[in-house]
Amino acid sequence: QRYLILNGPNLNRLGKREPAVYGSKTLTDLERELLQFGEDAGIEVTCFQSNHEGDLIDAIHEADEQYNGIVLNPGAFTHYSYAIRDAVAGVSVPVMEVHISNVYAREEFRHHSVIAPAAIGQIAGLGFYGYRLALQALMNQTGGK
Ligand code: DQA
Repeated sequence: QRYLILNGPNLNRLGKREPAVYGSKTLTDLERELLQFGEDAGIEVTCFQSNHEGDLIDAIHEADEQYNGIVLNPGAFTHYSYAIRDAVAGVSVPVMEVHISNVYAREEFRHHSVIAPAAIGQIAGLGFYGYRLALQALMNQTGGK
């Protein structure tokens, strides 16, 4: 089984970016943890990050029929990218939405996700651990969306 971890804009700055909100660990730390988790769980984990909406959309399209699931942290695109939402809605690979921070305890504009209705579920506020939980949720998922 193959799973794709897709991180959106500004997540390449983890560790430097607002550490009080996102913690002091880096994207490399996160990806290393998830690769190790995959190895332990006997699944193949691939990680990709982009600051560009179109690249994320391309990655979602390319993942369709290639992966058993996608863990997606769309960053701020969560709150307004209908294009990413349509990409998620238009593929058959199941997508789990993840946020490191508890978006519901933050600014009002972060309380709404345009992606969530197209995802199978959402995890927010559990830090890096949320990605692992999302992988487990996808592994537990049997048929499609
Ligand atoms: C985030 C939350 C978003 O509101 C924000 O724009 C991010 C990161 C999170 O992981 O908590 O870039 O998706």
